[in-house]
Amino acid sequence: MAIERKVTGRSIGPAEEQAFFSLRPSRLEDYVGQRELIAKLRIALEAARARKEPVGHILFHGPPGLGKTTLSHIIAEEMGSRLVKTSGPSLTRPADLMGILTGLREGDVLFIDEIHRLPRPVEEFLYPAMEDFRVDFVVDQGPMARTLNFPLKRFTAVGATTRPGSLTGALRERFYLLYHVDFYAEAELQEIIRRSAGRLELSIESEAAAELARRSRGTPRTANRLLLWARDFCQAKGDGAIRLRAVREALAMEGVDEAGLDGLDRSYLRTIVEHYGGGPVGVEAIAATMNEESDTLVDMVEPFLLRTGLVQRTRGGRRATPASYRHLGLALPKGLQPGLWSGEEAAGDEAKP
Ligand SMILES: Nc1ncnc2c1ncn2[C@@H]1O[C@H](COP(=O)(O)OP(=O)(O)OP(=O)(O)O)[C@@H](O)[C@H]1O
Ligand SMILES: [Mg+2]
Repeated sequence: MAIERKVTGRSIGPAEEQAFFSLRPSRLEDYVGQRELIAKLRIALEAARARKEPVGHILFHGPPGLGKTTLSHIIAEEMGSRLVKTSGPSLTRPADLMGILTGLREGDVLFIDEIHRLPRPVEEFLYPAMEDFRVDFVVDQGPMARTLNFPLKRFTAVGATTRPGSLTGALRERFYLLYHVDFYAEAELQEIIRRSAGRLELSIESEAAAELARRSRGTPRTANRLLLWARDFCQAKGDGAIRLRAVREALAMEGVDEAGLDGLDRSYLRTIVEHYGGGPVGVEAIAATMNEESDTLVDMVEPFLLRTGLVQRTRGGRRATPASYRHLGLALPKGLQPGLWSGEEAAGDEAKP
Protein backbone atom coordinates (compact mmCIF):
# COMPACT_ATOMS: atom_id res chain seq x y z
CA MET A 1 0.00 0.00 0.00
CA ALA A 2 2.68 2.45 1.06
CA ILE A 3 4.49 1.95 -2.22
CA GLU A 4 1.54 3.13 -4.29
CA ARG A 5 1.07 6.39 -2.47
CA LYS A 6 0.88 9.37 -4.76
CA VAL A 7 2.12 11.67 -2.01
CA THR A 8 5.29 9.86 -0.99
CA GLY A 9 8.54 11.74 -1.47
CA ARG A 10 10.22 8.46 -2.27
CA SER A 11 10.85 7.38 -5.83
CA ILE A 12 8.47 4.64 -6.89
CA GLY A 13 10.85 3.13 -9.41
CA PRO A 14 12.74 3.46 -12.68
CA ALA A 15 9.58 4.12 -14.74
CA GLU A 16 8.89 7.21 -12.71
CA GLU A 17 12.51 8.34 -12.86
CA GLN A 18 12.20 8.03 -16.63
CA ALA A 19 9.04 10.15 -16.70
CA PHE A 20 10.74 12.78 -14.53
CA PHE A 21 13.99 12.75 -16.45
CA SER A 22 13.25 15.84 -18.53
CA LEU A 23 11.96 17.71 -15.47
CA ARG A 24 15.24 17.69 -13.61
CA PRO A 25 17.02 21.05 -13.54
CA SER A 26 20.56 20.57 -14.80
CA ARG A 27 22.19 23.89 -13.89
CA LEU A 28 22.36 25.90 -10.67
CA GLU A 29 20.47 28.78 -12.24
CA ASP A 30 17.50 26.51 -13.02
CA TYR A 31 17.30 25.17 -9.49
CA VAL A 32 14.25 26.47 -7.64
CA GLY A 33 14.40 26.96 -3.87
CA GLN A 34 17.08 26.05 -1.26
CA ARG A 35 18.47 29.52 -1.79
CA GLU A 36 21.01 29.57 1.02
CA LEU A 37 22.32 26.15 0.10
CA ILE A 38 22.56 27.10 -3.56
CA ALA A 39 24.37 30.36 -2.76
CA LYS A 40 27.00 28.55 -0.72
CA LEU A 41 27.33 25.74 -3.21
CA ARG A 42 27.81 28.24 -6.02
CA ILE A 43 30.73 29.82 -4.17
CA ALA A 44 32.36 26.48 -3.44
CA LEU A 45 32.05 25.39 -7.07
CA GLU A 46 33.35 28.69 -8.44
CA ALA A 47 36.33 28.67 -6.11
CA ALA A 48 37.20 25.09 -7.00
CA ARG A 49 36.90 25.87 -10.69
CA ALA A 50 39.20 28.87 -10.31
CA ARG A 51 41.78 26.68 -8.57
CA LYS A 52 41.28 24.01 -11.23
CA GLU A 53 40.64 21.47 -8.52
CA PRO A 54 37.74 19.15 -7.79
CA VAL A 55 35.43 20.62 -5.16
CA GLY A 56 35.67 19.08 -1.67
CA HIS A 57 33.41 16.18 -0.71
CA ILE A 58 29.79 17.13 -0.12
CA LEU A 59 27.07 15.50 1.98
CA PHE A 60 23.37 16.25 1.43
CA HIS A 61 20.92 15.16 4.05
CA GLY A 62 17.17 15.52 4.20
CA PRO A 63 13.88 13.75 3.49
CA PRO A 64 13.31 11.91 0.19
CA GLY A 65 12.28 13.69 -2.97
CA LEU A 66 13.72 17.12 -2.19
CA GLY A 67 16.50 17.18 -4.78
CA LYS A 68 19.62 15.50 -3.38
CA THR A 69 20.20 13.42 -6.51
CA THR A 70 19.40 16.42 -8.69
CA LEU A 71 22.04 18.44 -6.85
CA SER A 72 24.67 15.79 -7.52
CA HIS A 73 23.87 15.98 -11.25
CA ILE A 74 24.14 19.76 -11.13
CA ILE A 75 27.54 19.62 -9.38
CA ALA A 76 28.93 17.36 -12.10
CA GLU A 77 27.40 19.52 -14.82
CA GLU A 78 28.75 22.77 -13.33
CA MET A 79 32.21 21.29 -12.87
CA GLY A 80 32.18 19.90 -16.39
CA SER A 81 32.84 16.45 -15.02
CA ARG A 82 31.45 12.98 -15.21
CA LEU A 83 28.92 11.69 -12.69
CA VAL A 84 29.43 8.14 -11.45
CA LYS A 85 26.51 6.86 -9.41
CA THR A 86 26.37 4.16 -6.80
CA SER A 87 24.55 3.54 -3.54
CA GLY A 88 25.25 2.27 -0.04
CA PRO A 89 23.26 -0.94 -0.28
CA SER A 90 24.72 -1.92 -3.67
CA LEU A 91 28.30 -1.89 -2.35
CA THR A 92 28.39 -5.08 -0.37
CA ARG A 93 32.17 -5.68 -0.32
CA PRO A 94 35.23 -3.40 -0.42
CA ALA A 95 36.05 -4.97 -3.80
CA ASP A 96 32.84 -3.45 -5.26
CA LEU A 97 34.00 0.00 -4.26
CA MET A 98 37.58 -0.70 -5.29
CA GLY A 99 36.43 -1.30 -8.86
CA ILE A 100 34.54 1.98 -8.95
CA LEU A 101 37.27 4.07 -7.31
CA THR A 102 40.07 2.84 -9.53
CA GLY A 103 37.92 3.59 -12.58
CA LEU A 104 37.47 7.25 -11.60
CA ARG A 105 39.06 9.97 -13.72
CA GLU A 106 40.42 13.29 -12.48
CA GLY A 107 37.56 15.49 -11.26
CA ASP A 108 34.80 12.86 -11.48
CA VAL A 109 31.86 13.20 -9.14
CA LEU A 110 31.14 9.96 -7.28
CA PHE A 111 27.56 10.03 -6.05
CA ILE A 112 26.80 7.62 -3.20
CA ASP A 113 23.09 7.50 -2.51
CA GLU A 114 21.83 6.17 0.84
CA ILE A 115 25.36 6.47 2.15
CA HIS A 116 24.20 5.57 5.67
CA ARG A 117 23.67 2.03 4.38
CA LEU A 118 27.30 1.38 3.44
CA PRO A 119 28.51 -1.79 5.16
CA ARG A 120 31.19 -0.96 7.71
CA PRO A 121 34.17 -2.60 5.90
CA VAL A 122 33.25 -0.69 2.72
CA GLU A 123 32.94 2.54 4.69
CA GLU A 124 36.40 2.04 6.16
CA PHE A 125 37.76 1.39 2.72
CA LEU A 126 36.34 4.72 1.63
CA TYR A 127 38.12 6.76 4.32
CA PRO A 128 41.63 6.90 2.77
CA ALA A 129 40.05 7.29 -0.67
CA MET A 130 38.27 10.45 0.46
CA GLU A 131 41.10 11.73 2.61
CA ASP A 132 44.24 11.08 0.58
CA PHE A 133 42.92 9.77 -2.74
CA ARG A 134 44.39 6.33 -2.23
CA VAL A 135 43.11 2.90 -1.33
CA ASP A 136 44.83 0.43 0.92
CA PHE A 137 44.40 -3.24 0.46
CA VAL A 138 45.90 -6.22 2.14
CA VAL A 139 47.50 -8.98 0.11
CA ASP A 140 48.47 -12.41 1.40
CA GLN A 141 47.61 -13.66 4.82
CA GLY A 142 49.27 -14.31 8.16
CA PRO A 143 52.95 -13.30 8.46
CA MET A 144 53.18 -12.62 4.72
CA ALA A 145 50.35 -10.07 4.80
CA ARG A 146 51.28 -6.68 3.36
CA THR A 147 49.28 -3.53 2.78
CA LEU A 148 49.53 -2.09 -0.69
CA ASN A 149 48.64 1.48 -1.52
CA PHE A 150 46.98 2.31 -4.75
CA PRO A 151 46.79 5.97 -5.76
CA LEU A 152 43.51 7.33 -7.12
CA LYS A 153 42.65 10.32 -9.28
CA ARG A 154 41.32 13.31 -7.35
CA PHE A 155 37.53 13.09 -7.28
CA THR A 156 34.58 14.57 -5.42
CA ALA A 157 32.44 12.28 -3.31
CA VAL A 158 28.84 13.42 -2.99
CA GLY A 159 26.86 11.52 -0.39
CA ALA A 160 23.11 11.61 0.09
CA THR A 161 21.21 10.38 3.10
CA THR A 162 17.75 10.59 4.60
CA ARG A 163 19.18 9.48 7.96
CA PRO A 164 22.14 11.67 8.93
CA GLY A 165 21.83 10.37 12.49
CA SER A 166 22.78 6.87 11.31
CA LEU A 167 26.07 8.07 9.84
CA THR A 168 29.24 7.39 11.82
CA GLY A 169 31.10 10.47 13.03
CA ALA A 170 34.18 9.24 11.17
CA LEU A 171 32.37 9.29 7.84
CA ARG A 172 30.67 12.63 8.49
CA GLU A 173 34.02 14.24 9.28
CA ARG A 174 35.39 13.32 5.89
CA PHE A 175 32.98 15.66 4.13
CA TYR A 176 34.06 19.20 3.47
CA LEU A 177 30.55 20.60 3.03
CA LEU A 178 27.41 19.35 4.76
CA TYR A 179 24.06 20.65 3.63
CA HIS A 180 20.59 20.08 4.92
CA VAL A 181 18.04 19.99 2.12
CA ASP A 182 14.77 21.28 3.49
CA PHE A 183 11.11 21.17 2.47
CA TYR A 184 10.05 23.76 -0.11
CA ALA A 185 7.73 26.71 0.33
CA GLU A 186 4.44 26.68 -1.55
CA ALA A 187 5.51 29.47 -3.88
CA GLU A 188 8.63 27.48 -4.82
CA LEU A 189 6.60 24.37 -5.53
CA GLN A 190 4.27 26.41 -7.66
CA GLU A 191 7.26 27.60 -9.67
CA ILE A 192 8.51 24.00 -10.02
CA ILE A 193 5.06 22.89 -11.23
CA ARG A 194 4.90 25.77 -13.67
CA ARG A 195 8.32 24.86 -15.09
CA SER A 196 7.52 21.17 -15.29
CA ALA A 197 4.25 21.95 -17.09
CA GLY A 198 6.25 24.13 -19.49
CA ARG A 199 8.72 21.37 -20.26
CA LEU A 200 5.86 18.92 -20.83
CA GLU A 201 4.03 21.51 -22.97
CA LEU A 202 0.95 21.38 -20.76
CA SER A 203 -1.43 24.23 -20.27
CA ILE A 204 -2.28 24.76 -16.61
CA GLU A 205 -4.36 27.41 -14.85
CA SER A 206 -2.41 29.25 -12.19
CA GLU A 207 -5.05 28.36 -9.55
CA ALA A 208 -4.59 24.72 -10.50
CA ALA A 209 -0.82 25.01 -10.08
CA ALA A 210 -1.35 26.67 -6.70
CA GLU A 211 -3.68 23.88 -5.60
CA LEU A 212 -1.17 21.21 -6.60
CA ALA A 213 1.61 23.08 -4.78
CA ARG A 214 -0.49 23.34 -1.63
CA ARG A 215 -1.00 19.60 -1.54
CA SER A 216 2.55 18.54 -2.44
CA ARG A 217 3.88 18.30 1.12
CA GLY A 218 6.78 20.62 0.47
CA THR A 219 8.28 18.01 -1.87
CA PRO A 220 9.18 18.53 -5.56
CA ARG A 221 8.90 14.84 -6.39
CA THR A 222 5.34 14.80 -5.04
CA ALA A 223 4.58 18.00 -6.95
CA ASN A 224 5.74 16.44 -10.23
CA ARG A 225 3.86 13.23 -9.55
CA LEU A 226 0.61 15.04 -8.75
CA LEU A 227 1.08 17.16 -11.87
CA LEU A 228 1.44 14.05 -14.05
CA TRP A 229 -1.64 12.54 -12.43
CA ALA A 230 -3.62 15.74 -13.05
CA ARG A 231 -2.42 15.72 -16.66
CA ASP A 232 -3.65 12.16 -17.20
CA PHE A 233 -6.93 12.98 -15.53
CA CYS A 234 -7.49 16.07 -17.66
CA GLN A 235 -6.50 14.33 -20.86
CA ALA A 236 -8.95 11.52 -20.17
CA LYS A 237 -11.80 13.70 -18.98
CA GLY A 238 -11.47 17.04 -20.67
CA ASP A 239 -9.72 19.03 -23.35
CA GLY A 240 -6.34 18.39 -21.73
CA ALA A 241 -5.96 21.79 -20.09
CA ILE A 242 -5.35 21.46 -16.35
CA ARG A 243 -8.00 23.37 -14.44
CA LEU A 244 -8.67 23.83 -10.75
CA ARG A 245 -11.87 21.80 -10.68
CA ALA A 246 -10.34 18.83 -12.40
CA VAL A 247 -7.28 18.98 -10.12
CA ARG A 248 -9.58 18.78 -7.11
CA GLU A 249 -11.40 15.81 -8.57
CA ALA A 250 -8.17 14.07 -9.54
CA LEU A 251 -6.74 14.48 -6.03
CA ALA A 252 -9.98 13.40 -4.35
CA MET A 253 -9.83 10.23 -6.41
CA GLU A 254 -6.38 9.53 -4.90
CA GLY A 255 -7.57 10.31 -1.38
CA VAL A 256 -5.23 13.31 -1.15
CA ASP A 257 -6.89 15.89 1.08
CA GLU A 258 -6.60 19.68 1.43
CA ALA A 259 -3.40 19.44 3.46
CA GLY A 260 -1.80 16.83 1.17
CA LEU A 261 -2.45 13.95 3.56
CA ASP A 262 -3.58 10.63 2.13
CA GLY A 263 -5.30 7.60 3.59
CA LEU A 264 -2.17 6.27 5.26
CA ASP A 265 -1.49 9.58 7.02
CA ARG A 266 -5.06 9.87 8.24
CA SER A 267 -5.10 6.28 9.41
CA TYR A 268 -1.91 6.99 11.40
CA LEU A 269 -3.51 10.03 13.07
CA ARG A 270 -6.73 8.15 13.72
CA THR A 271 -4.80 5.31 15.34
CA ILE A 272 -3.17 7.66 17.84
CA VAL A 273 -6.43 9.44 18.57
CA GLU A 274 -8.88 6.54 18.57
CA HIS A 275 -6.80 3.64 19.85
CA TYR A 276 -4.42 5.44 22.18
CA GLY A 277 -6.46 8.37 23.46
CA GLY A 278 -4.23 10.86 21.67
CA GLY A 279 -0.98 9.36 23.00
CA PRO A 280 1.78 9.49 23.95
CA VAL A 281 2.29 6.13 22.27
CA GLY A 282 5.37 4.43 20.82
CA VAL A 283 5.67 4.13 17.06
CA GLU A 284 5.99 0.34 17.35
CA ALA A 285 2.55 0.15 18.92
CA ILE A 286 1.06 2.41 16.27
CA ALA A 287 2.67 0.28 13.55
CA ALA A 288 1.37 -2.96 15.07
CA THR A 289 -2.15 -1.58 15.31
CA MET A 290 -2.05 -0.38 11.72
CA ASN A 291 -0.38 -3.55 10.50
CA GLU A 292 2.41 -1.50 8.94
CA GLU A 293 6.20 -1.53 9.27
CA SER A 294 7.39 1.02 11.82
CA ASP A 295 10.14 2.08 9.38
CA THR A 296 7.45 2.99 6.87
CA LEU A 297 5.83 5.25 9.43
CA VAL A 298 9.11 6.80 10.54
CA ASP A 299 10.39 7.44 7.02
CA MET A 300 7.29 8.10 4.98
CA VAL A 301 4.53 9.31 7.25
CA GLU A 302 5.91 11.06 10.28
CA PRO A 303 8.35 13.62 8.78
CA PHE A 304 5.59 15.60 7.11
CA LEU A 305 3.14 15.28 9.99
CA LEU A 306 5.81 16.40 12.47
CA ARG A 307 6.77 19.31 10.31
CA THR A 308 3.20 20.53 9.97
CA GLY A 309 2.47 20.06 13.68
CA LEU A 310 -0.12 17.34 13.08
CA VAL A 311 1.77 15.11 15.49
CA GLN A 312 4.45 15.64 18.13
CA ARG A 313 7.30 13.39 19.13
CA THR A 314 7.86 13.44 22.86
CA ARG A 315 9.92 11.39 25.26
CA GLY A 316 6.89 9.23 25.96
CA GLY A 317 6.10 8.64 22.29
CA ARG A 318 3.91 10.20 19.60
CA ARG A 319 1.15 12.57 20.60
CA ALA A 320 -1.80 13.99 18.75
CA THR A 321 -2.05 17.81 18.76
CA PRO A 322 -5.09 20.06 18.60
CA ALA A 323 -4.36 20.32 14.88
CA SER A 324 -4.70 16.53 14.51
CA TYR A 325 -8.19 16.61 15.99
CA ARG A 326 -9.11 19.57 13.82
CA HIS A 327 -7.80 17.83 10.73
CA LEU A 328 -9.82 14.70 11.44
CA GLY A 329 -12.90 16.81 12.18
CA LEU A 330 -13.05 15.58 15.77
CA ALA A 331 -13.84 17.54 18.92
CA LEU A 332 -10.89 18.29 21.19
CA PRO A 333 -10.98 16.12 24.31
CA LYS A 334 -11.03 17.92 27.67
CA GLY A 335 -7.53 18.73 28.87
CA LEU A 336 -6.32 19.27 25.33
CA GLN A 337 -7.74 22.76 24.89
CA PRO A 338 -5.53 24.79 22.56
CA GLY A 339 -4.88 27.50 25.17
CA LEU A 340 -3.82 25.10 27.92
CA TRP A 341 -1.93 22.87 25.63
CA SER A 342 1.48 24.37 25.13
CA GLY A 343 3.37 21.40 23.75
CA GLU A 344 5.58 21.43 26.86
CA GLU A 345 7.11 18.11 25.90
CA ALA A 346 8.03 19.17 22.42
CA ALA A 347 11.64 19.55 23.56
CA GLY A 348 11.83 15.77 23.63
CA ASP A 349 12.15 15.83 19.86
CA GLU A 350 15.41 13.94 20.05
CA ALA A 351 13.54 10.93 21.42
CA LYS A 352 14.51 7.83 19.47
CA PRO A 353 12.05 6.77 16.80
N1 LIG B 1 14.76 22.44 -6.89
C1 LIG B 1 14.11 21.74 -7.78
N2 LIG B 1 13.56 22.32 -8.85
C2 LIG B 1 12.87 21.59 -9.73
N3 LIG B 1 12.67 20.27 -9.65
C3 LIG B 1 13.21 19.63 -8.62
C4 LIG B 1 13.96 20.33 -7.64
N4 LIG B 1 14.38 19.44 -6.72
C5 LIG B 1 13.91 18.25 -7.11
N5 LIG B 1 13.21 18.35 -8.25
C6 LIG B 1 12.51 17.26 -8.94
O1 LIG B 1 12.03 16.37 -7.95
C7 LIG B 1 12.33 15.02 -8.26
C8 LIG B 1 13.06 14.38 -7.10
O2 LIG B 1 14.33 14.93 -6.97
P1 LIG B 1 15.59 14.03 -6.56
O3 LIG B 1 15.54 12.72 -7.26
O4 LIG B 1 16.78 14.86 -6.75
O5 LIG B 1 15.28 13.84 -5.04
P2 LIG B 1 16.16 13.15 -3.91
O6 LIG B 1 16.31 14.13 -2.80
O7 LIG B 1 17.38 12.56 -4.49
O8 LIG B 1 15.22 12.03 -3.42
P3 LIG B 1 15.57 10.58 -2.87
O9 LIG B 1 15.99 10.79 -1.48
O10 LIG B 1 14.26 9.88 -2.98
O11 LIG B 1 16.62 10.01 -3.75
C9 LIG B 1 13.12 15.04 -9.55
O12 LIG B 1 12.28 14.55 -10.55
C10 LIG B 1 13.44 16.50 -9.82
O13 LIG B 1 13.17 16.79 -11.15
MG1 LIG C 1 17.78 10.54 -4.88
